[in-house]
Amino acid sequence: MASIDTSALWAALENLPQPGLAELFGDPARMDRYASVLDLPGGPVRFDWSKTHLSADVEAVLGRIADEVDLTGRRQALFAGEMINNTEGRAATHCAERGVGNPAAAEEAALFHDRMRGLVEAIHEGLLGEVKSLIHIGIGGSALGPALAIDALAREDARVAVHIVSNIDGAALAAAVKQCDPATTLIAVASKTFTTTETLVNALSALEWLREGGVEDPYGRVVALTAAPDKAVAWGVDETRVLPFAETVGGRYSLWSSIGFPIALALGWDGFAAFLEGAAAIDRHFIEAPTAENVVIRAAFADLYYTQARGCASRAVFAYDERLRLLPSYLQQLEMESNGKRVTADGTPLARPSAPVTWGGVGTDAQHAVFQLLHQGTHLIPVDFFAVSIPGHDFDPAHHRILLANCFAQGAALMSGKAGGDNMARDYPGDRPSATILCDELGAATLGSLIAFHEHRTFVSAMMLGINPFDQFGVELGKAMAKAMDSEGGDRFDASTEALLAAAGIDR
Ligand code: F6P
Repeated sequence: MASIDTSALWAALENLPQPGLAELFGDPARMDRYASVLDLPGGPVRFDWSKTHLSADVEAVLGRIADEVDLTGRRQALFAGEMINNTEGRAATHCAERGVGNPAAAEEAALFHDRMRGLVEAIHEGLLGEVKSLIHIGIGGSALGPALAIDALAREDARVAVHIVSNIDGAALAAAVKQCDPATTLIAVASKTFTTTETLVNALSALEWLREGGVEDPYGRVVALTAAPDKAVAWGVDETRVLPFAETVGGRYSLWSSIGFPIALALGWDGFAAFLEGAAAIDRHFIEAPTAENVVIRAAFADLYYTQARGCASRAVFAYDERLRLLPSYLQQLEMESNGKRVTADGTPLARPSAPVTWGGVGTDAQHAVFQLLHQGTHLIPVDFFAVSIPGHDFDPAHHRILLANCFAQGAALMSGKAGGDNMARDYPGDRPSATILCDELGAATLGSLIAFHEHRTFVSAMMLGINPFDQFGVELGKAMAKAMDSEGGDRFDASTEALLAAAGIDR
């Protein structure tokens, strides 16, 4: 996969005239062009990119880069199950988990799903005794997706209460076990590799908690979610409770696989199936919609325009819905672990910035904390807003009207600004971009669509820059050094690090 020289086109993108948003809104067709509604399985979702600086000129240059890098061919390769993750020598088959793409991969995923469904339904039917809670132990991609989905969708009426534990800090496990009864709790050990220190240490402590709580056979309460079933069995999990998934499903793309077991357990199988179907609908849109109508490509083009031509080093995401409060941290891993790279897929140093820093929070809270910088700071930070028309509670509808008014007001204010007269401290420059995703209703299908939309948006950015978004070697060095540090007689480190170890009382 040799790098393609697109430098002249990126330079052309930088050199385009930069009309402001007010001028761009002079085009009466702008709303038709940049605000589209997709009819998705969970209901209509509005993707409004009109308040960004996308224009026909910008899209034309990015379209030429897409042609140069053969974005269409790369997309086909992704869905066909070709070895698109070249640095690790494998395909990326998360779409097959939703039944889209390579038929053999989709068939294998369906078989794994059947196995998972069997266990989920057996638990719901009481065949494993009374199960009131599940402690799901995993980290990174083995935790962030389930945490988001369960927090968003299973706040009420969860079939089984799920507690997600990721951090090695025992305080995380302590908080979870406090809410559970050992007699009615299952443990899910979620690890693609089944080698991750945090997860295995937490899992052993959870088993110990079960044992101390009177459970005679703690291993009998463990379900393993992994692409390394042999390792799970060797660790002590009974083969009947190992739910495998394919090696070709990347960690941060794995919530559609058996890593989604806690989602299915909390929502029921129909809920999980709806989640997959919502994602599949976006897969189809991404494959089928022409570039000009493709909301995924449009979003990626806007992202690229800001990082590549307007010097934006960060991108902010704000969920104006409490149920989506974990979306920013989910997207952080998806985008930063995928596209935070310094070389292209063939190892050539990137001549351009890669992924911006993704950060964000929840509205309206964030307005009272960080929005000052968005409105008046010196950085230009494109913002995404997420909102849902139908509230997730039965309190006075005023709550939701005020919430949505605040969300839309922020986008409008960032764009219009306001002159401060002779008081510059009160001057809002405006012309600050935002996009808004407005869902009718937040159910499993809609959440699936939102997540798949971001997966493909990240993929498009990666392809345009020539990055492999499916590896993550950057996380390995720190892991290896932590292991070396924690071993007796292990490696010596720099003076600062050695002093920290000594000050913390860590003997080696
Ligand atoms: O540290 C990074 C990472 O490899 C993530 O990509 C992954 O989701 C996470 O660790 C957990 O890995 P595993 O599922 O193998 O335990």
